[in-house]
Amino acid sequence: MIKQPTPLIDFTNLTYHYVRTNVNYVSYYKDGLWDEGQLQAEDSLRINILSTTFHYGQQAFEGMKAYRTKEGKIQLFRPYENAVRFQKSCQRIMMPPVSVEQFMDAVIRVVEQNSEFVPPYETQATLYIRPYMIGVGPNLVLAPSKEYIFGVVVMPVGLFFKSGLTPADFLVSEFDRAAPHGTGAVKIGGNYAASMYPNYIAKSQGFTDCIYLDPATHTRIDEGGAANFFAIRKDGVFVSPKSSSILPSITKLSLLDIAKNYLHLEVLETEIYIEDLTLFDEAATCGTAAIITPIGSLTHHDTVYHFGTKGQVGHVTKRLYEVLTGIQFGDITPPHNWILSIE
Ligand code: PLP
Ligand code: COI
Repeated sequence: MIKQPTPLIDFTNLTYHYVRTNVNYVSYYKDGLWDEGQLQAEDSLRINILSTTFHYGQQAFEGMKAYRTKEGKIQLFRPYENAVRFQKSCQRIMMPPVSVEQFMDAVIRVVEQNSEFVPPYETQATLYIRPYMIGVGPNLVLAPSKEYIFGVVVMPVGLFFKSGLTPADFLVSEFDRAAPHGTGAVKIGGNYAASMYPNYIAKSQGFTDCIYLDPATHTRIDEGGAANFFAIRKDGVFVSPKSSSILPSITKLSLLDIAKNYLHLEVLETEIYIEDLTLFDEAATCGTAAIITPIGSLTHHDTVYHFGTKGQVGHVTKRLYEVLTGIQFGDITPPHNWILSIE
């Protein structure tokens, strides 16, 4: 395989815009079986024009990162959680899940072969890992495809929300990203396509992004288009929405643990009604890309809910950020099984 020459990358100035890396992984499913998969340098796929991924959105994906430690090692954060969530997403839209072993093997091989693209520790930038599955092959019938591609592609990334740790202004959207009993709890492209217009509206009104309400009643906070929501109640309790239409975030799952076991806070997953937002001192979104992005204000119709001191990240959010990123970058001892080192 011909490796691309490593480009000179300014790891201090990364966004989420495309950076070509050495290789990606591709595996084909046909006649009921996945092949063993291979690495390719080519960064495009040739697929039939009537593939279900194009016409009916039959696809799913994952988002995870590789981190460079102070000692120069590379590590993954809770990758088995991503592997299992990917299986659930694939099953929800009738695609044949890959085994956890194949998922892990693909991720590890791609990260290893792109190790020079894992940014240095000092930059706090990371290598984003995007496993995906798409329905391919000729098929105009509204039915699951008979052929699939499972792939893994990586690229170095910086901040997703450029506000970083400075609290940002969010808009409560009038739109829904997912339906009640729909696909909100799985990671499929359709949810993200549905969030592009609301995101555009929020941005054009000067907001960083929007937060969605529960689609059934529009009375409770659900999540963002690319991140979960959490807030710190004035009495110090870490609260995050309980909802069947949000993606079960691995970052949020981890923050529940960190808040409880590292910060010794009470934690609660429960419904958060819009009018309850006055009970909170701090609010934030969290996710692989978002990391922890503090929310300074949340606008709902004519009401603006403010959190904490303008322009300053709240002290609990800051501590959560320090412990989460400390574990991810190898500075803080992780709970059992959270970190996988890559040689
Ligand atoms: N919610 C949505 C809609 C997302 O796209 C993401 C990002 O993956 C998250 C939440 C956060 O999930 P995780 O922490 O597993 O990245
Ligand atoms: C992630 O945080 O991994 C996501 O998938 C969000 C995506 C929009 C970058």
